[in-house]
Amino acid sequence: MQRVLLAHPADLDGFRAAVRGLMARNIPPAEVLWDIAGDPALPLGDEGSRSEGAVAAPPLRVPRAFAELAQRVICHRAPERFALLHQALVRLQGDRHLLDNRTDPLVDRLQAMAKAVGRDIHKMRAFLRFREIADAEGPHFIAWFEPDHHILRHSIGFFIRRFASQRWTILTPDLSAHWDGKAIDFLPGATRGDGPAEDALEPLWASYFTHIFNPARLKLKAMQSEMPKKYWKNLPEAALISDLVAAAPARLQAMVEAGRAPTLARLAESARDCSLCPLHGPATQTVFGEGPADARLMLVGEQPGDMEDLEGRPFVGPAGKLLDRALAEAGIDRTRCYVTNAVKHFKFEARGKRRIHQSPSPAEIEACRWWLDQELDLVAPALVLLLGASAARAVLGRPVTVGRERGRPIPLGARRTAFLTVHPSYLLRIESQEVAEAEYGRFVADLQAARALAEAA
Ligand code: URA
Repeated sequence: MQRVLLAHPADLDGFRAAVRGLMARNIPPAEVLWDIAGDPALPLGDEGSRSEGAVAAPPLRVPRAFAELAQRVICHRAPERFALLHQALVRLQGDRHLLDNRTDPLVDRLQAMAKAVGRDIHKMRAFLRFREIADAEGPHFIAWFEPDHHILRHSIGFFIRRFASQRWTILTPDLSAHWDGKAIDFLPGATRGDGPAEDALEPLWASYFTHIFNPARLKLKAMQSEMPKKYWKNLPEAALISDLVAAAPARLQAMVEAGRAPTLARLAESARDCSLCPLHGPATQTVFGEGPADARLMLVGEQPGDMEDLEGRPFVGPAGKLLDRALAEAGIDRTRCYVTNAVKHFKFEARGKRRIHQSPSPAEIEACRWWLDQELDLVAPALVLLLGASAARAVLGRPVTVGRERGRPIPLGARRTAFLTVHPSYLLRIESQEVAEAEYGRFVADLQAARALAEAA
């Protein structure tokens, strides 16, 4: 039996190096025992006595789909994950298309494991809540979370990008992570009691949740499947849910009687004081979305420009004028669309009297996504037209290359579709008139295709 020692439970680099050596020596998966450093089940003194079992061996050629699958599967809690990945690698050497065969029991198993890990990552991003404590160095945010799988290392980039400028610690039973604003440190696991129970932000958060909780949109089943009870105990807003649910019919009735049922206006009102990211400081005002609450087509731009910032309405400057012309040519009535932006404050650099547009960072887009998600939920459009990469990133939740994904439907859950095209300000920047005209024609054609999709939905 060959024993391999990995540095931690999701040590993909260690696994790769070791498996290369094992395969170079034709050692079959059934003859390998995978150990993890620090595992209390390991015999005492055993840890230091073995290397990873890697020998200098040529890298394995594997399809990209396998590399992506392995990144998730390695985080799964099942101890057999290493052996299963090893088996798949052996079989891939003789059958490059193995992963296309969904009826193969090994492929099916690995896909199911990757899916479970993906779900766990999603839940962590959605339900992890930081609580604020103050220490000698200032504010410090602490979160407690109980993932099903070994996903903390895999997920850490998301939290670093999102909260780059804060100091925070994420505690989980197996592993903790500490970010000091510059570097990440992984530390041993913790218990729930190691984190603070409550902080000043919580009442604020809870009152905010009460404010945005819309009884007209209460879908208890969907809410429970999205937010399984297991996570409720760590969410400040969850304590409110059963009260809010019980009070929903009466609140709905009261809202209808008071003529307050449409809540986009309330949302826009809340967004007026938004300070979720630093962009609110230099900007004149929040530029919220506008349009009918039952629009079938929603247009998402990047962020307000100079004129939008001053007027407080989206797409009223030069890019907006060009957009209006193209929409009219494509037969789309702007007054029947909901028009908004990924980021609700103007980001700029002041140069003398001029304010020069700056692209929003991924963290700023992420911070503002809170508002966009609410707008999507309230308007519930059949089609979301994404104008450029920032809009696409905000709605799809991942980096997007416009050239690669432009001009075709992108499913957004079961009943919604996104459609990506260029941002109109791109057209304004093209210097050659000939190219600009051709690109404008493509843009109008994209809008026509979006219109057809919205009408067919
Ligand atoms: N660019 C955008 O993305 N949105 C606006 O509202 C104006 C310009």
